[in-house]
Amino acid sequence: MEPILHARDLEKSYAEKESAERLHVLRGIDIAIAENEVVAIVGASGSGKSTLLHILGGLDRPGSGEVFFRGTNLNKLNAAELAAFRNKNMGFVFQFHHLLPEFSALENVLMPALIGGQFPNERELRAKELLDKFGLSKRYHHRPSELSGGEQQRVAVARALMNKPDLLLADEPTGNLDEANTKSLLKQLFELRNELSLTIIMVTHDKSIAASCDRTFRIENGLIVSDTANLGLV
Ligand SMILES: Nc1ncnc2c1ncn2[C@@H]1O[C@H](COP(=O)(O)OP(=O)(O)O)[C@@H](O)[C@H]1O
Ligand SMILES: [Mg+2]
Repeated sequence: MEPILHARDLEKSYAEKESAERLHVLRGIDIAIAENEVVAIVGASGSGKSTLLHILGGLDRPGSGEVFFRGTNLNKLNAAELAAFRNKNMGFVFQFHHLLPEFSALENVLMPALIGGQFPNERELRAKELLDKFGLSKRYHHRPSELSGGEQQRVAVARALMNKPDLLLADEPTGNLDEANTKSLLKQLFELRNELSLTIIMVTHDKSIAASCDRTFRIENGLIVSDTANLGLV
């Protein structure tokens, strides 16, 4: 089967502040993710997990190498095309929810659709459905500061799903949640994978979360050092 996403020989380095050396974060990453897979990317702090996720999701560009989303080579898109492509095909969830503090939960979830140009009635209905799905039907008009950490993160996931992406990229999405909220968020993500035929790429340093995904990629010294199929015990 054709992968939904694959990348070839990704390299990324940054100029070091104190010397002429460069910090080589990614040194030649090859990765392929199948449609409908849930995969984890693990590795020590500073190993380049976020850098890799951002490049795979077109939020950042590699120094060299290529990323393909189905047939599209992300390198070939200019900044505006890439932003539109992301908005249509991908959803992002970060460790810190990145909700806009001045806006309600409902407005935050609606935000990607305002950019995506859906009809007002349709998009409001969808935003409410998503919030309902995440148990937030009584929280439409709360601002982020009026929500618990778990609720904030569920709003962030709802927002990521607003434009019906095929790929969800999540960077330590449960990093700030307690065990109960972590479990329920993961359960919901796995349900969504089935319901919406989502593919999910999740960065995590939590072993049990990684083991609950279909596959785990481990990154070390800028390379993927292992690619393990899990039993998927969730
Ligand atoms: N924009 C940047 N400029 C310079 N160095 C960066 C930048 N982004 C990340 N780095 C460095 O690259 C390395 C990998 O970072 P990151 O991908 O965030 O790691 P992880 O998510 O695995 O903790 C770190 O040493 C970090 O300091
Ligand atoms: Mg990170």
